[in-house]
Amino acid sequence: MKDTMNNVELTQIAQTFQTPLYLYDAAQIEANYRAYAKGFGDYPHLICYAVKANSNLSILQLLAKMGSGFDIVSQGELKRVLAAGGDPKKVVYSGVGKRREDLIFALKTGIACFNIESIAEIHLLNEVATELNIKAPVSLRINPNVDAKTHPYISTGLKENKFGIRMEEAFELYQMMATMPSLMIEGMDFHIGSQLTEISPYAEALDLTLALIDRLADAGITLKHLDMGGGLGIQYEDETLIDPADWIALAIEKIGARSLKLVIEPGRSIVGNAGMLITEVILTKENEGKHFAVVDAAMNDLIRPALYDAWMEIRNLSDTVQNTADMKSYDIVGPICETGDFLGKNRMLALKAGDYLMVKDAGAYGFAMASNYNSRGRAAEVLLQDGKARLIRTRETEESLFELEVAHLVK
Ligand code: LLP
Repeated sequence: MKDTMNNVELTQIAQTFQTPLYLYDAAQIEANYRAYAKGFGDYPHLICYAVKANSNLSILQLLAKMGSGFDIVSQGELKRVLAAGGDPKKVVYSGVGKRREDLIFALKTGIACFNIESIAEIHLLNEVATELNIKAPVSLRINPNVDAKTHPYISTGLKENKFGIRMEEAFELYQMMATMPSLMIEGMDFHIGSQLTEISPYAEALDLTLALIDRLADAGITLKHLDMGGGLGIQYEDETLIDPADWIALAIEKIGARSLKLVIEPGRSIVGNAGMLITEVILTKENEGKHFAVVDAAMNDLIRPALYDAWMEIRNLSDTVQNTADMKSYDIVGPICETGDFLGKNRMLALKAGDYLMVKDAGAYGFAMASNYNSRGRAAEVLLQDGKARLIRTRETEESLFELEVAHLVK
């Protein structure tokens, strides 16, 4: 998030909407999207924002208005895209476990492409499409077996991962698909991981997939697009970043004279640095010389530190002077009954009960991964746009969390 808002304004927003609170900056999301669009220039392309990173309807609407397409992984995400006014013809559908009913819904909706991840899925899609008498546009997700050099949980392009189809198998599968009456071969895709900071794994994956595309062309199977997934990292700490323009230029250069539209599926790099989580310090305590700040946000609100040991910057919005004499090394922890419930460890901060803290760069995989663990309602979400702070998701009430259970109580 750009430092357009000063701490007083942020504190006021926190007071108005209460905490924990997710706050997003529309201008930053737009700028991030434009960096990709600009990188393509007039090269034929489709930017499919990865909905999983942040699926709030107002954010999807903002991106849809800019002309963005969407990468979805569930029927739920497709329904969100439609509710937000997204164009189904710009939707690609990824994921290893699409069910029959998901395929039916997406086929009837008329999406741009099914990114297929297994032989079983090829057969199921052909069967369902035949029943519905609809031609299904398809792409095979290739697992190029490259090391994305990122956290193992978010690395997806190695052969031991569950994702995609092995290079060695893909050629024959394309030939098989070409004979299937209800499939329409559109392209090829890969997605090698998330929070990538080096471009070389992409170069490797591009070389491998383009060679396969050429082999297919020689065999009379012409693909229309290449989808190189998402995965560009953002700066949480001091990471070096891949410039979207360099990434796209690399792909365009490697594609060369081939006639291939480029599709990308960025998630984190569109919304990550455009959001923050604001939380209030409930109390401070000391155990055996260790200092804890217990805050009102927890791992159910933001699971990245607990799940990936992710480091996310934490600042005090209420005391911006941060007198070094008052600083202590704090573990910033939530109220949940788990040792893994922390937002940050060993942070040198001056703080006291009642202070508002912000966890920076929490726009991606923050709210989207939130849960109701410990019967905690999920946070409110607010979007800053044109100088105004607008509520885009109401804070969940505790009562709403057990609504679906009340009718099942024994009378
Ligand atoms: N396309 C596919 C097929 C994906 O699986 C993903 C992310 C993306 C695109 C978008 O990747 P991005 O541009 O956001 O890196 N929860 C983890 C990240 C999981 C990423 C899953 N797949 C985290 O908080 O770091």
